[in-house]
Amino acid sequence: MSKPQALRVRHLKLANFRVFESLDLDFEGDIIFFIGQNGMGKTSILEAISVIALVRSFRQAKDQDLIRWGEEHYAVSADIKEDSQNLHLHAAYGLKQGRRLLVNREKVTKLADYMGRLPLVVFSPEDLEIVQGGPQERRRFLDIVLSTLMPLYLESLQKYQRVLKQRNALLQRLIRDPLMYRALDEELARLGAILIQKRREFVQNYLPNLKNYLHFISNGQDNWEMTYQPSIPEGDEPMQYLKTLEKGFEYDLKTKKTNWGIHRDRLLFHPPQKPETELLQIASQGQKRTLVLALKMAQYSYFTQVLNKIPLLLVDDVLNELDLSRRQAFVRFLQSVGQAFFTTTDLGEMHTFLREKNLAMAVEVFTLSKKEKEQNKTVVVEKLPS
Ligand SMILES: Nc1ncnc2c1ncn2[C@@H]1O[C@H](COP(=O)(O)OP(=O)(O)OP(=O)(O)O)[C@@H](O)[C@H]1O
Ligand SMILES: [Mg+2]
Repeated sequence: MSKPQALRVRHLKLANFRVFESLDLDFEGDIIFFIGQNGMGKTSILEAISVIALVRSFRQAKDQDLIRWGEEHYAVSADIKEDSQNLHLHAAYGLKQGRRLLVNREKVTKLADYMGRLPLVVFSPEDLEIVQGGPQERRRFLDIVLSTLMPLYLESLQKYQRVLKQRNALLQRLIRDPLMYRALDEELARLGAILIQKRREFVQNYLPNLKNYLHFISNGQDNWEMTYQPSIPEGDEPMQYLKTLEKGFEYDLKTKKTNWGIHRDRLLFHPPQKPETELLQIASQGQKRTLVLALKMAQYSYFTQVLNKIPLLLVDDVLNELDLSRRQAFVRFLQSVGQAFFTTTDLGEMHTFLREKNLAMAVEVFTLSKKEKEQNKTVVVEKLPS
């Protein structure tokens, strides 16, 4: 296989996105910093990039909350360079029009035809939820990674969710007639089996990467296993899946929801040979942070391997949170990345970081500050002369 190609954002455009009425930024470098006080809009710029890449905010905000207050429509777009090729991605959302996606200025109707073109890995303080939060946080992590890797996964997942909603609606109306469920159950079993296979495969292939990074960051101290536990253990087989749905039917009616299926799968972190002991209950705060960092670094290298493309990296406010040893590991990791965007409130933080990194790459720094403009205070983003 040829050498992985790095993707680089060369131009970013925001219209009525969060606090920004309009923003146009050109990037030449590989390491880009956004510096400004709290609440200026630094994270919002990274968020815009995540919307362009994943059609969702990494802060898990709803589309209507991304629209600048008082407006009805946002649009974000980017010019991306991939070696000699150019890619233009555009994502917009309007209260009336709904979502609109363009690839190289042509309209795309299926999300699966849009996703995955700009592989992205985000480091943010909220990542701790993957380890610390409920099972849905770990499923979301799986789903985001797999959707970037495989448009088919995303398509199946979306269909599954639609069918599940229909089934739950029947259960809520206490409809007993098995005939009403048959087609839905068969569809859930067919899609569920595909999704289980993909999840299982992914966890298997990804685990060695994760263990490497865990070892690397913790100097060999930490060792956790990651186990995928489908709600229907033999669900890779549509027949088995279907049987479980049928067996659970009475209980589903009683609880008015579907209790078995990939929407109840679990991803567990645990000590080796002790799958019943969840890390959640025994790991220290520092060990959890180390694991989160390893998860994300492993995601980065996994994307690079599988897609043969070097993803974009977004690092929101994370530098401050790392202690010395994790910071050193992170800095070493950064030696091998492509383009990366950072936010921080603290210029001093950035200088320390840059010194450690011993950079050969071009650094660009943008400051965000409030300025008087036509009698209004607006956020202005300015590039510092290098
Ligand atoms: N839809 C919106 N329309 C207008 N302004 C918004 C909207 N959503 C959020 N804001 C404003 O944007 C600002 C938050 O921006 P953001 O979270 O990007 O700041 P930040 O620079 O990352 O801050 P911090 O350093 O605290 O993380 C807040 O002032 C908030 O009031
Ligand atoms: Mg922020």
